[in-house]
Amino acid sequence: MRVFHLSAECYPIAKVGGLADVVGALPKYQNEAGLNAAVVMPFYNRKFVHENQFDLVFQGTTLLGTRRIYFEIIKEKTNKLGFELFMIKIPGLLDRENIYSYPDERDQFLAFQICFLDWINWSGQTPDIVHCHDHHAGLVPFLMYHSALYRRLAHIPTVFTIHNGQYHGAFGWGELSKLPEVDFYKTGMLEWSGGINPLASAVKCCWKFTTVSPNYLRELTWSSNGLEYLFYLERFKGYGIVNGIDTEVWNTATDPMLPAKFTSTTVTKGKQKNKEILCERFGLAADKPLIAFIGRLVVEKGADLLPEAIERSLRTHGDSVNFLLLGAGDAETENALQHLKTLFPQNCNVFIGYDEALAHLIYAGADFLLMPSRVEPCGLNQLYAIRYGTVPIVRSTGGLKDTVIDFGDDGGYGIRFEQANADDIYASINRAVVVYQDSKKMLQLRKKMMALDFSWQQSAQEYINLYESLTS
Ligand code: ADP
Ligand code: GLC
Repeated sequence: MRVFHLSAECYPIAKVGGLADVVGALPKYQNEAGLNAAVVMPFYNRKFVHENQFDLVFQGTTLLGTRRIYFEIIKEKTNKLGFELFMIKIPGLLDRENIYSYPDERDQFLAFQICFLDWINWSGQTPDIVHCHDHHAGLVPFLMYHSALYRRLAHIPTVFTIHNGQYHGAFGWGELSKLPEVDFYKTGMLEWSGGINPLASAVKCCWKFTTVSPNYLRELTWSSNGLEYLFYLERFKGYGIVNGIDTEVWNTATDPMLPAKFTSTTVTKGKQKNKEILCERFGLAADKPLIAFIGRLVVEKGADLLPEAIERSLRTHGDSVNFLLLGAGDAETENALQHLKTLFPQNCNVFIGYDEALAHLIYAGADFLLMPSRVEPCGLNQLYAIRYGTVPIVRSTGGLKDTVIDFGDDGGYGIRFEQANADDIYASINRAVVVYQDSKKMLQLRKKMMALDFSWQQSAQEYINLYESLTS
């Protein structure tokens, strides 16, 4: 079965968050299970494209409104990622370094989708499934089924995966002319709340949609930034499939980014060694519980709640707990965290920025990983933490609720709290500080977590079952 995954991000080529991790791993596991899955993404001017060789597989011209664009499809020569990687290159539009936030971002992703469809249409390819990820690829189902230009593709099933239902990519009708010729009687399938809404359109037009955890599927019907009623209406088309992790990349015994490799039998020593290296780098003492945060410093992640909760903890616990935070995002939160560092230089440090190797070291060296998310469709950080023997402290929401069981409950290993507020975070930190004193319990939790299986195998198979239900 031939499947094309369409995504704005893919690890290790270009990553902002978990979307990249999923698209860089799921196709590999699907191929191991016998599929023929490939990834199609925009071209980015990044290290990976300079260090690897590509073949030119197609070139064409197309229209973005009245603008004629020339595009190339290039393919990574060796398939070393475990799947075929295709990139769409458009001089002047899709040949830049960053993934998001250009003023003409809309044109970039419209062009990405149109060029993909032109390519498979004119090159005569007939995939069995087109699998679109997030709103950047959300107009593809509509165009496949409601544009005369792509009539040849209209019978191909589309699956749409929602990694983040908060972002819709919406824009006004004034830009409708940028789309290829469409059936005007069907433009309602593009519409939500008075404009063109790629996320809503994808949910309406795709054959099936999925969310990255079962719990998030339910949550979308009461919290999706205005699409609640749509998700309620379309609820029978939706499936919640929890994300997995790439256990080759995330392996404490082989991870090249860890100074000290370890397994569950050597977990205490191994983690301590990584912790010492980490703490030395950040001027923290390694003999106290180390609570970390990794992620985008945005309201969605509850990052704005961290300064108050951490300050309160440090004022209560004095010198008996340390915090280390890695992330970038809202300026106000960045500044508040930097300020915290000046207030408590011995117990709190912050790295503002993006650093993949540091993230790996923190997962390995920290004792606890804090995730006070307001919204978390799945969350991968907690899965990496679990795999690296680090106790996740999470708010009970989205995929965090599906993947973390409180250690106070049967079979539990993490710490869960209900409300996204400083009080609940503070109370959970207190629980962490107490449990850390019990070294026997910590060892038991670490071993239990490292024995859990969150690899992609099962979830990749669930996607395959879904594809099969659409093609048989
Ligand atoms: P989201 O996609 O919403 O940001 P996920 O938990 O799904 O959240 O995935 C986040 C991914 O990005 C993880 O691989 C995490 O380690 C990584 N990450 C986030 N922020 C940083 C950062 N500042 N430096 C390095 N890695 C980061
Ligand atoms: C999104 C979500 C995150 C999820 C990731 C991968 O970025 O915010 O919760 O893990 O996509 O599916």
